Amino acid sequence: MTDYENIPVEKLLEAYRTFKSPVYVYEEAKILRQCDRVLSSLKDLPVKWLYAIKANDNPFIIEAINKKGIGFDTVSLEEVILCQAFTDNPADIFYTENSMTDEEMERAVEAGVVLNIGALSRLEQYLKHPKTKECCIRINPAIGDGHHAKVNTGDPESKFGIRIGLLKDAVDLAAKYNKKITGIHAHIGSGIKEPENQIAAMKVMLELSEEFPDLRYINFGGGMPTPYRKADREFNIERFAELARQLLTEDLKKRPNGFEYFFEPGRWFVAEAGYLVTSVTTVKDQVETVYLGTDTGMHHLVRPPLYEAWHGVVNLNKMEAPHDQLYTVAGNICESGDILAFDRLLPETEIGDVLAICDAGAYGMTMASQYNRRSLPAEVMITENGELKCIRPRLTADETVERFLKDCGYGG
Ligand code: LLP
Repeated sequence: MTDYENIPVEKLLEAYRTFKSPVYVYEEAKILRQCDRVLSSLKDLPVKWLYAIKANDNPFIIEAINKKGIGFDTVSLEEVILCQAFTDNPADIFYTENSMTDEEMERAVEAGVVLNIGALSRLEQYLKHPKTKECCIRINPAIGDGHHAKVNTGDPESKFGIRIGLLKDAVDLAAKYNKKITGIHAHIGSGIKEPENQIAAMKVMLELSEEFPDLRYINFGGGMPTPYRKADREFNIERFAELARQLLTEDLKKRPNGFEYFFEPGRWFVAEAGYLVTSVTTVKDQVETVYLGTDTGMHHLVRPPLYEAWHGVVNLNKMEAPHDQLYTVAGNICESGDILAFDRLLPETEIGDVLAICDAGAYGMTMASQYNRRSLPAEVMITENGELKCIRPRLTADETVERFLKDCGYGG
């Protein structure tokens, strides 16, 4: 959770003055600190960390995390191609397929990345392919978690992973084609509420691993949560690492040299480092609700309407004023569901005030769209040494429409 005492108010206001709003602003130092926390947590074991770039794929952010020695977790051909801009070593790129096409598989095979397959039908296509040798399979461990039903991936009925009852078929298929399943993977959900569930899923994976004779690694997925509200428990990485360490140390005794374990968080690295800075354009008193209308909305941060997600909101101009007015923060999209925050106690707010929507570094810009044909926000990094660096400029309204017409091939 963003510690409201430590919000870089002056830097956010400077970003607003320089780059106007709406603008996503990220604190590089916080991202790097989150990298250090995971890297040191299990450093005495053969554990590797991957960054699930879907959380925030701005190239400057991918680069900063990768420079820390963290690899790439991808879920589409496009993400694979993006990560190829940062590494020549395909083994650094882990690609979890999901309803993959033949063409995407062909490209993944050509690229030589590590392919993680979550369905028997795709596994057979892969094993049949003349150029393939080995792969990883995604297992549905029948233990799910996540901050919302829409992001619970380990539920037995979710679309993800090969269910436990079919694992023998996967092993038989590999044998039939004389190929190897060298890795197993599970990701039980995003924003895991109970770390015990992650530990329980790890135990299931370690037990199931005995069915795979050629195993060289196990990937336990991501899902480390962000405490968005003050009342949310902070995910205790040290405690989690302690439990994981016990399991892995025991497991390692029966493994051959070179065996590896992977984790692939996304949100963990970036969520708390990001703010969506927006200005108040409208103050409107309806019967029971006072709305603050802003120059952003669900097209830039879809998490509140999509998952009823809660993000802290602060008025950067009035941090010290009494927080005694109840407001609902709305966006500028033509839909009544376009609400970013309901019923927040804020200082008396005026048109022109600048708000920061906190903990918005993960699944903010990557899920943004141009709905209502609106321009995307700019992105700015507060670098480790405190400079403001634009890492994606905003297009003007004219440029946005010009590019759109051109992309459609309209008008010559
Ligand atoms: N690995 C796999 C295979 C995944 O599908 C995901 C996320 C991750 C790792 C990283 O999960 P994380 O550590 O970030 O929780 N848009 C939603 C989250 C969707 C996550 C999808 N998969 C949100 O805004 O909460």
